Amino acid sequence: MKQIVFGSTGLKISRVTFGTWQLSPRFWGDVPKEDVVSALRLAHEQGINCIDTADAYGDGYAETVVGTFLRTVPRDDVVLITKVFNHFNPDTSRYPDLSPAHIRQRCEIELSRLGTDHIDVYLLHFHDPLTAPEAVTGMLDTLRKEGKIRHYGVSNFTVEQLRAYRTFGDYAVHQPPYSLLNRGIESDLLPYCQSERVGVMVYSPLHMGLLTGKYRGTESFMDFRQHHKDFKGERFRMVSEAVQGLKSMADRYHLSIYQLVLAATLAHPGIHTAVVGIKTPDQIREAAGAGDIVLERSDVCAIRQVLTIDGGNRVADAGGGRK
Ligand SMILES: NC(=O)c1ccc[n+]([C@@H]2O[C@H](COP(=O)([O-])OP(=O)(O)OC[C@H]3O[C@@H](n4cnc5c(N)ncnc54)[C@H](OP(=O)(O)O)[C@@H]3O)[C@@H](O)[C@H]2O)c1
Repeated sequence: MKQIVFGSTGLKISRVTFGTWQLSPRFWGDVPKEDVVSALRLAHEQGINCIDTADAYGDGYAETVVGTFLRTVPRDDVVLITKVFNHFNPDTSRYPDLSPAHIRQRCEIELSRLGTDHIDVYLLHFHDPLTAPEAVTGMLDTLRKEGKIRHYGVSNFTVEQLRAYRTFGDYAVHQPPYSLLNRGIESDLLPYCQSERVGVMVYSPLHMGLLTGKYRGTESFMDFRQHHKDFKGERFRMVSEAVQGLKSMADRYHLSIYQLVLAATLAHPGIHTAVVGIKTPDQIREAAGAGDIVLERSDVCAIRQVLTIDGGNRVADAGGGRK
């Protein structure tokens, strides 16, 4: 897979990033870790060099599994991204805490779990309103000087929060949610990141599986999706039907619907890489097949139009729609 320069970090990354939230049993149930480690190996063979994890995923379990894999490959083959945010209580409850001492403590625990001496990109998982940005940034700069992290950034920040933090330090990466069903950041956050050369890695690009093409809209779920509004009722049925409508275009490109949607997601020039959630080797093989695909502009516009579904009603795509 081709690599691109990850904004101002200068890191070279694959257009597809391996996401490990699936190792969070409270969201996804029990996903066999052997399957995920095999998928990580396959990703490495296929040239996917970027791995996304967090101490929040399974309360450290995902980082431990990633660490198992990292010990088997040359460290420089991987761009390792992890996150900090939660204070974990012994009873498994959590609360936000980006106070400097807590960031340092979590970073050291995370390095030890990951079995490495550095994190390539360290992200603030969410915004913490109770810690001053200069205090957070001061600790991130200290960790960078010590060589424990190479770059830092944010996730789930609004454009105004990111703009404010960038006045204090070199926040070089953002990880926002984005899929072709959920394109709100195109109006503000993505243009800002493009103008500032912030590296953008979007998460949930298949909308937690909804855009993979495997649903008819009648299925029920055992995991957290049973409570998610997009996975039940009329909206689930309408979106699934719209996604199925992409089959003939996918066939024309000799792609699966999953691959077509992922390639169309990566067509936005402000997006450097898409973080896909992976449980098995077959899933990462399919994702890898989409990373370098370039679709015709007219087809990307048609896909965006098909997936412009709002509140159960189709509306025109602002980028090329009917007036
Ligand atoms: N920063 C944050 O706050 C944040 C939040 C969420 C996620 N993330 C990151 O982003 C990653 C991706 O997000 P996401 O998990 O919502 O991702 P997604 O890629 O939109 O959806 C992943 C789900 O799609 C299904 N799937 C994956 N590959 C498939 C394939 N080839 N064919 C059919 N189905 C397939 C799997 O579920 P089933 O097999 O069960 O259908 C998988 O759990 C996470 O792993 C995590 O690293 C970050």
